[in-house]
Amino acid sequence: MIVALNNKSNLSKEEFITYQEKLGKLETNSKMIVCPTFLNINLWQPNKIFLGAQNVSTENEGAFTGEVSAIDLKASGVEYCIIGHSERREYQKESLEGIHKKLMKLLENEITPILCIGETKEEREEKKVEQVLKEELKTAIDTLTEEEKAKIIVAYEPIWSIGTGIIPTMEEIEEVFRFIKQILPNSSILYGGSANEKNIDLLKTVSLIDGYLLGGLSLKPEELQIFLKKLDGRE
Ligand code: PGA
Repeated sequence: MIVALNNKSNLSKEEFITYQEKLGKLETNSKMIVCPTFLNINLWQPNKIFLGAQNVSTENEGAFTGEVSAIDLKASGVEYCIIGHSERREYQKESLEGIHKKLMKLLENEITPILCIGETKEEREEKKVEQVLKEELKTAIDTLTEEEKAKIIVAYEPIWSIGTGIIPTMEEIEEVFRFIKQILPNSSILYGGSANEKNIDLLKTVSLIDGYLLGGLSLKPEELQIFLKKLDGRE
């Protein structure tokens, strides 16, 4: 299993140093990826956990104030990068085309994209889930070769589940995963949205699941350890 940790805009320099020590001690059979803030990325001491980022520029270099390029991420040891997170789609008004450009820049620089997709509560109620996910996926992977498509990790994150404590039913997740597999049969698929140590026993029963993207839980190493042990079937 893959367990990716999205720190979002959390953990000061001091907090991150302590956090990193705790992460290094976690017992798990999963492949762990930590996605700190840009500034904390360069504090990371290489260990068995892979380094990720939460965003990337659409361009490799140039007059793009405030942006961080895939070239710079790569030089800092980043091997994975979240793109298209719903918070960025909403607050930074990220466009489908922009997310496609980011994905291309990551692949060009040999960084694995973790592409987030997901529907709002209203879209689910209006039975538009497949329509929304299809649009998000298809524009992101437009022009990609089959080989490139296989390198992408997709994170299905229903927007109404993120940080709310509410998760879909396992049938709802499976239905979406089957749909994603029709479009990207060789990509890994993660679930994200209020996954925690209390619901992991249920979430791990979902078929086709390759792992999890954790926000809130990523900041709590003790609870995260319980989650990882349950995932391994050791608790
Ligand atoms: P959450 O966030 O686990 O706190 O719901 C997940 C995410 O936004 O990636």
